[in-house]
Amino acid sequence: MESGFSANDMDHIIEADRAHVWHHLTPHKKFETSDPLVIVEGKGMHIWDARGKRYLDAVSGGVWTVNVGYGRESIANAVRDQLVKLNYFAGSGGSIPGSLFVEKLLDKMPGMSRVYFSNSGSEANEKVYKMVRQIAHKKYGGKKYKILYRDRDYHGTTITTLSTSGQPQRAEQYGPFTPGFVEVPHCLSYRKQWDVPDEEYGRRAADAIEEVILREGPETVGAIVLEPVTAGGGVIVPPEGYWPRVQEICRKYDILLHIDEVVCGCGRTGKWFGYQQFGIEPDFVTMAKGVASGYAAISCTVTTERVFEMFKENPDDPMDYFRDISTFGGCTAGPAAALENFRIIEDEDLLSNVNEMGAYLMERLHELMDRHQVIGDVRGMGLFCGAELVADRESKQPVDEKQAQAVVGECLAQGVLIGVTNRSLNGLNTTLCLSPALIVGKAEIDEIITAMDNALTRVFG
Ligand SMILES: Cc1ncc(COP(=O)(O)O)c(C=O)c1O
Repeated sequence: MESGFSANDMDHIIEADRAHVWHHLTPHKKFETSDPLVIVEGKGMHIWDARGKRYLDAVSGGVWTVNVGYGRESIANAVRDQLVKLNYFAGSGGSIPGSLFVEKLLDKMPGMSRVYFSNSGSEANEKVYKMVRQIAHKKYGGKKYKILYRDRDYHGTTITTLSTSGQPQRAEQYGPFTPGFVEVPHCLSYRKQWDVPDEEYGRRAADAIEEVILREGPETVGAIVLEPVTAGGGVIVPPEGYWPRVQEICRKYDILLHIDEVVCGCGRTGKWFGYQQFGIEPDFVTMAKGVASGYAAISCTVTTERVFEMFKENPDDPMDYFRDISTFGGCTAGPAAALENFRIIEDEDLLSNVNEMGAYLMERLHELMDRHQVIGDVRGMGLFCGAELVADRESKQPVDEKQAQAVVGECLAQGVLIGVTNRSLNGLNTTLCLSPALIVGKAEIDEIITAMDNALTRVFG
């Protein structure tokens, strides 16, 4: 790796970072005793820090984002070509990459037909919340305004998306929150909340949603937002029977179904979108991270024509449209990068790789579980896996969170970057997370597993 910067330059860069950069999700005292990790280059599955150390990235940029891997010149070129031609015009107008990208995207999403551009997962989700509230005003005299969200799910960092945080530690100290959002129970069968046989658990967990709807009054509930597979809340794949029942409940009570694909979307689970794994027919789908693999900021709120029509039923109403704007939703770099990103996923047949390598990763994680008692559960879908650490398999008592973080630290020391649930769930930030880029091969998975094996032995014996 040749960065073009001398060791002295790098010292300066690290010091400037330590002095002035306010890092995400990082306790402020941390860099008083250690250097910030400054990443200066990436290629394929690897990144290099400012000291020239190489890491195998098993978490796609830390947060499930760089789906097609680092250093993709064709995406950089597509963005550059677009920027010199036209960098920006407000989203009230159109653009060439915008049109071409929505066409490609909707081709992967039968039943969906409208795409609203913005810049982050939080923003894409908040657009849905606004749409649902507006529909409540237009069709239900303002009454059907409540939005349900699920314990353990996460939908963003703004005050209103935090109002739908099923991860209490993410929301701590940021209240008061926006009213009108109501929690439903999670569906993780490893930590059962109802005493029913395994095969009935999915349906039982979905029944709990109906119970909340009946308690709140179905005439007050407009929508429910759910991750297809919960990500930061511990990699939770809903059990068999869950999704068909959720769909049935939504139809029964005229509740719009919003699927948050910010993590699961764009190939991560082995299909284009996570909801397609379960045969769900959503009314809204939101996506961000993997849409352009982090080469440009872009998020999408995708709806059906039925939803779009609800905003143009009464031409005499001055609010007969979605009165919203996202300034940077008009940046053309996002759809230009996304278009090329999707072309890569298609042309390199990355969905097949996700399915093949996802199965291999799961097999290797189960082997690790056989060797290490501390792994209580392994779960996931495609290249999106979690290993929950417990002090005792019988009682499922979680390990000390510091020990889970130590495993991540020991992997980092070996040059492998893995993740762990991070200040999300009280006492349960103990699930190790893996989400390598969709291009990962067997040799790299072996390297990840070896690093985890060593790290688990060092921390737990
Ligand atoms: C499922 C889910 N939805 C929404 C978000 C928010 O996305 P952003 O950080 O781009 O606002 C995240 C972020 O991690 C997420 O995991």
